[in-house]
Amino acid sequence: MSIRILLSCIGLALLPQSALAQITVDLDAEGRPAAEKERDATSKPMEVLEWMGVEEGDAILDIQSGGGYHMWIFSDAVGPEGKVYSQSSFRPESLQARIASGATPEANVTYVSDIAEVPDASLDLAFTDRNYHDVNPGEVPAWLETLKAKLEPGGLFVVIDAEAAEGRDLESHRIASDVIVSEVTAAGFELVEESDMLANPADDHVGPKWDQRDSLDRSMIKFQKPADEHGGHR
Ligand SMILES: C[S@@+](CC[C@H](N)C(=O)[O-])C[C@H]1O[C@@H](n2cnc3c(N)ncnc32)[C@H](O)[C@@H]1O
Repeated sequence: MSIRILLSCIGLALLPQSALAQITVDLDAEGRPAAEKERDATSKPMEVLEWMGVEEGDAILDIQSGGGYHMWIFSDAVGPEGKVYSQSSFRPESLQARIASGATPEANVTYVSDIAEVPDASLDLAFTDRNYHDVNPGEVPAWLETLKAKLEPGGLFVVIDAEAAEGRDLESHRIASDVIVSEVTAAGFELVEESDMLANPADDHVGPKWDQRDSLDRSMIKFQKPADEHGGHR
């Protein structure tokens, strides 16, 4: 159990982040792809890690990892004592090859095709960047129930997604942040805070804008599994 979750369980969650151990990530590492280094300007990984309170030794699930941008960063951040589950169900071959080839900072990454493969009550953090909108609306309650079962009591669920003018906009690959909040809290998560760190007021919320998708107007929402909710599936 991380210090953050322990503090949460004993009611001291408001302790400033600066009181927690600082983590380091070598974003300039030689083996890190140039495209990922370029993306750092708009994805602000160190600021996001700090906002999430990630610590060495944490267990993190990266949901729909894509090429593995966050997977690589989490691997370095949590260090050799930590654990990263990198999940992808959509053309996962290159992600699997990246993990299998040892091209991660630490040998602490496990590929999973489905979040159900993660051990119950094992995660400090479940994270998803621009994939929540893809979860089939009819499957959202069951999906969130499974996800909650994978978190430790007090564990965090952080959702980043492209802001929509309204509702779920599957054509534009966007979702309005109020929809995310209402669905996730309905599943029994507590809303902790939202951040405008990845907001972009210049985005008109229309279209996926593939050529600039890393700089869309993104919501960033932190939820928590109740600290007194133990066990896995009910
Ligand atoms: C915007 S990327 C984000 C990937 C990763 N989370 C990141 O931040 O780099 C969206 C990812 O969603 C996945 N994807 C695309 N279409 C999908 C679908 N219909 N259902 C589930 N996942 C899909 C692909 O893996 C794609 O890389």
